[in-house]
Amino acid sequence: MKFFLDTADVAEIKEALSWGILDGVTTNPSHVAKTGRKFREVAGEICKLVPGDVSLETVSLDAAGIVKEAHELVKFGRNVVVKIPIMKEGLKAVKQLADEGIRSNVTVCFSASQALLAAKAGAAYISPFVGRLDDISHDGMEVAQQIRTIYTNYGFKTQLLVAAVRHPLHVLQAALMGADVTTMRFNIFEQLVQHPLTDIGIKMFLDDWKAKNLSIW
Ligand code: E4P
Repeated sequence: MKFFLDTADVAEIKEALSWGILDGVTTNPSHVAKTGRKFREVAGEICKLVPGDVSLETVSLDAAGIVKEAHELVKFGRNVVVKIPIMKEGLKAVKQLADEGIRSNVTVCFSASQALLAAKAGAAYISPFVGRLDDISHDGMEVAQQIRTIYTNYGFKTQLLVAAVRHPLHVLQAALMGADVTTMRFNIFEQLVQHPLTDIGIKMFLDDWKAKNLSIW
């Protein structure tokens, strides 16, 4: 399963890259706004920094506008995937862009039927927002599992990108269901590596080592 970081914060991306486990980045308009930087500056920097796929989101609500923005976004690099919200105009744009060989990540998805349409239109990725469903007492991972089943049933090439995850268990469940990608905020990357027994275990080893004044050299 690929690990994407869900952010537009370059410092977080550099840190995750240094761990050797980062496969790509997903941004959205809110993430970019939060940086307080100009979009073009942030997008350019992220696309150069990250060897894997970088999702950059469109903001138009009509197909012609989305396609025009997509043509501009792909100039940032060969790794750009155009993030497009699921809606009728979005589907038209996804289809047109797929015909041109431009990859899209269909976003703000909350149902398996939306995901089915995105795959039929030729999306490269589908992003169900599992945590936002959980936030309103629905089961987000159940929707992700339905998408996995439908895509497998029909051999769709669209990659399941589990998004809006809220905790490490979401990441584990995504891996168990065979999701292609999980995108997460930096704090979840950090939570994944942590375990209290690991901290205790390391401390015990070091205490025993120091107590006998041992040395590797
Ligand atoms: C996904 O691509 C979105 O950017 C993101 O996962 C939204 O998640 P949030 O609910 O944490 O904002």
